[in-house]
Amino acid sequence: MNTSYKILGTGSCLPELTVDNEMYAKVIDTSDEWITSRTGISRRHLCDGEATWEMAVKAASIAIGEAGVSAETINMIVVTTLTPDYTTPSTACIVQERTGAVNAFCFDLNAACTGFIQAFDIAMHYLCASAEPFTALIVAAESLSKLVDFSDRRTCVLFGDGAGAVVLSNREADGSLLAPDLVYDSFIGADGTGGGYMTGKAFEPAEHPFRDADKPEREDLFGHETGIYLSMKGQEVYRFATTAMPMAIEKVLERAGIALEKIDYVVPHQANDRILQAAAKRIGLDPEKMLSNIAETGNTSSASIPICLDQEIRSGRIKRGQTLIMTGFGGGLTYGACALNY
Ligand code: UT7
Repeated sequence: MNTSYKILGTGSCLPELTVDNEMYAKVIDTSDEWITSRTGISRRHLCDGEATWEMAVKAASIAIGEAGVSAETINMIVVTTLTPDYTTPSTACIVQERTGAVNAFCFDLNAACTGFIQAFDIAMHYLCASAEPFTALIVAAESLSKLVDFSDRRTCVLFGDGAGAVVLSNREADGSLLAPDLVYDSFIGADGTGGGYMTGKAFEPAEHPFRDADKPEREDLFGHETGIYLSMKGQEVYRFATTAMPMAIEKVLERAGIALEKIDYVVPHQANDRILQAAAKRIGLDPEKMLSNIAETGNTSSASIPICLDQEIRSGRIKRGQTLIMTGFGGGLTYGACALNY
């Protein structure tokens, strides 16, 4: 049983196309004032030809390079996405093939915006359970522009595209042992009763040649009106988020046995600046410690935490030795948090 793991490297990728609020105001009934004041979003990046797998590979390659490990030493690849390009192969298998991580087992995970936290929790358990060297690559890659209806002002202005990645290991990049006891803890949870607050349909029922035309279709579970597009009950999700995020943070602090004062930064899912500030207030966290890049990226679902983490590491704000909490919430409903020593 290991008592340490470490983020060896991070990477991120945003599509080149940037769309600001004024550009939305030209095509739908909205305004920069409404979007900025209600969400904190000024602009976001949208795919303009890029595929989800492509952003995933770019972010992963940067993270592997930053980690200073050879791709062959990676044991596990998890890609979190609700917007893959293929139902099969998994995006994780595509990342494996493109990065040369030939020894990794691979799978995709969809927990909407909480995907990265769930993947981190799973990877952490592998890392801690393995007496042998174990390295995990987690990539969160999303093209929300595929899922939103650009005529629905309630959702389309909120979301952006992008990918973020981390390489985690229970050894240093050169294979040496880590300093002991760097493991903190994590917590993930779900509340299926709120499933209807954020929905998007997958496939239409099969029209195969053996169907009995008289048998009715099952009614849609959620009374989903927007076909494959994302439909969201914004206020209900807002209420959930402002409760679930503080709860996840408090739970992970309790499990890890650390005080809030020891936390240098919280890297939260970027859904709405108002949610972040309300959550900080609720737990008594200095609002400066609640990191936000939403003004420039919008909500990139599961990718938002590793993109923010990577940007803050590169900017120099997040430094080695600091204690971080990453926390997310989203469709499902799902939520969770991880505490770690960076
Ligand atoms: O990633 C995780 C999941 N997502 C979230 O965490 C999102 C959580 N929810 C929210 O962040 C907020 O609820 C929203 C940003 C989605 C909406 O903000 P709100 O303050 O809750 O607005 P609202 O839904 O109460 O709408 C207020 C008004 C409505 O007009 P009426 O009915 O009062 O006349 C909306 O039609 O704002 C209108 N509205 C807009 N107006 C201009 C909604 N979207 C827009 C828009 N531009 N883009």
